[in-house]
Amino acid sequence: MKVIKDALQLQKVAFKHLINGDEIGLIPTMGALHEGHISLIEKSVKNDDITIVSIFVNPVQFGPNEDYLKYPRPIKKDLEICKRNHVDYVFMPSVNNMFPQDHKTFVEVKTLQDIMCGAFRPVHFRGVATVVSKLFNISCADRAYFGMKDFQQLKIIEKMTKDLNFRTKIVPCPIVREKNGLALSSRNSYLSDEERLLSLNISKSLKEAAKEFKNKSLNAVKKKAVNKLKKIPNSKIDYAEIVSADDLSPADKNTKRAVFTVAVWVGKTRLIDNIQMTK
Ligand code: PAF
Repeated sequence: MKVIKDALQLQKVAFKHLINGDEIGLIPTMGALHEGHISLIEKSVKNDDITIVSIFVNPVQFGPNEDYLKYPRPIKKDLEICKRNHVDYVFMPSVNNMFPQDHKTFVEVKTLQDIMCGAFRPVHFRGVATVVSKLFNISCADRAYFGMKDFQQLKIIEKMTKDLNFRTKIVPCPIVREKNGLALSSRNSYLSDEERLLSLNISKSLKEAAKEFKNKSLNAVKKKAVNKLKKIPNSKIDYAEIVSADDLSPADKNTKRAVFTVAVWVGKTRLIDNIQMTK
């Protein structure tokens, strides 16, 4: 396994692999790797000749009062995980290497970037779309793997990839959960034991909602889940919305494939989760 810290160097290596006919898989991450990331790595190792994991806590996707500085950075452990899981290259650039002072270009995915999480984190998806498009160009990836926990992110990246004619194929991967239902997230490390227990109500409410989706009205399904979420002590709901799994438009009674997606603060930690609901 090779660790590369410079974008141009990785791009040169990636081009050589492309010329050799190797297929390249990319797993973009911000590090603090967990079983969710490992499931993406495993898929790429199986599908692709070369697997690249990028580890970059991307400053441009954090708002001014968000957790950029406190975001966990367990570099040594992350590298061990990558090595153990047969990653070929870890791309670990500095902020200056990705976003030098004179960087002026940003990618925006209109409308989709402004709803749900985007309504509460105005610069977030512009930062995500920009860094991911840079990573696609740098890595020359044939396939890029994204977890479905960040469902809005996945949809935005799919749209960006289509609109900007990237050759990279997006591979959506299922949410990985703890046995108790909690969706894995690097931010779970912020939760106290008590908050972790309270957080289980999020996946529980979603699971119940998905069961009821076939027989009850959308409003009834949503209301019941929201009431349950509201009862979590010391919590705040940013949003709870049932949207079309295709384009994030509000679901209605004719929507066959919907996603119930929520962002909830438990104490000082903002958790997102979602569940697919089919008729
Ligand atoms: O999902 C994440 O960890 C990040 O948003 C990503 C896709 C690596 C871009 O920084």
